[in-house]
Amino acid sequence: MSRIFINYRRQDSEGYVGRLYDHLTELFERGDIFMDIEAIKPGQDFVETLENAVAQCDVFLAVIGPHWLDSADANGQRRLDLWNDFVRIELATALKHGKIVIPLLVGRAQMPNPDSLPDDIKLLARRNAFEISHNRFKADVERLAKSLKELVPVNTSFKEQRTDSALARKKATALRTLREELVKSTNSPLYQMRMENGYIPVLGEGNPDANLIFIGEAPGKAEVEQGRPFVGPSGDILAEMLREINLHREDVYVTNLLHDRPPEKRDPVPAEIEFYAPFLDRILDIIQPAVICTLGRFAMQYILKKLDLPEQRQTITQNHGKLIKTKMPYGEIHVVPLFHPAVVLYSATQKETLRQDFLKLKMYV
Ligand code: URA
Repeated sequence: MSRIFINYRRQDSEGYVGRLYDHLTELFERGDIFMDIEAIKPGQDFVETLENAVAQCDVFLAVIGPHWLDSADANGQRRLDLWNDFVRIELATALKHGKIVIPLLVGRAQMPNPDSLPDDIKLLARRNAFEISHNRFKADVERLAKSLKELVPVNTSFKEQRTDSALARKKATALRTLREELVKSTNSPLYQMRMENGYIPVLGEGNPDANLIFIGEAPGKAEVEQGRPFVGPSGDILAEMLREINLHREDVYVTNLLHDRPPEKRDPVPAEIEFYAPFLDRILDIIQPAVICTLGRFAMQYILKKLDLPEQRQTITQNHGKLIKTKMPYGEIHVVPLFHPAVVLYSATQKETLRQDFLKLKMYV
């Protein structure tokens, strides 16, 4: 499946895009880079075709050259203002679907001002741009590739992350489909917040065939800006704890109870849990982990209640570090409630407690 979508205007940046494509294919699978949509057949809805193509990507590269903003058609009309301009349709779709959109500046182009953009692509102006210069082309593309590898959910399509296992591939595909559903979930209680701020929904990331899954509360600002869970200060603590037990993030799967960011760092409300929990349930059904580690009381309460465990009547202070044996439809598992990494940020004592609890996970590694 295509993972990196290159959106560009031929008259504006064709030369740069050709070079970009050649370099990227040295670093990624050719089939994972999607550029020119194949001929749209007579009678086919071209908007739908473009939207479907964009929906399949993980990262959307919007190549902006010197004439991107003011390129005009034969009648002198600015192309970006035309309803059927494919650059605009693709870009609007990527923004609407919460894709990771990276403006790529080439030919010394500048980022457009939001006032100069049609409403459906105004949010582009808020995405951090990446500049590719003529003289440092290869080095710049390598830097870009490095960022792409960090940005795109682990275990998608990059060569070194590709897994040989057919089962893991099947699980990865199922997770991608689920993510598409999440992105299209316009009825979510946090959808408006997502759209108004240009936030990216965060399903989760990691090994689709992981033994261990970590479930946090909800993505924070850093997470929804990157579309990845636990990439802020709590993520640093999580990575540190994993290292202590000789694990990396790529070895486990990391997700949350909610998949969009609630406003002002507030706790999840019941309507949000009700909406997002089925996504978490399906993640568990797909991955089938042997150990479910909950981070914080919200994820703990949800999982203990879902599995109807007696510990649901106890607090996280009573439950943390317990290895609770139970059953899922696919087999026997353990639930391990842990404190949330954010709680330990300012307390050395709490951090030590979390470290001790993590050490108990060693036996599953
Ligand atoms: N806190 C969470 O619960 N989840 C994240 O992804 C980040 C911070």
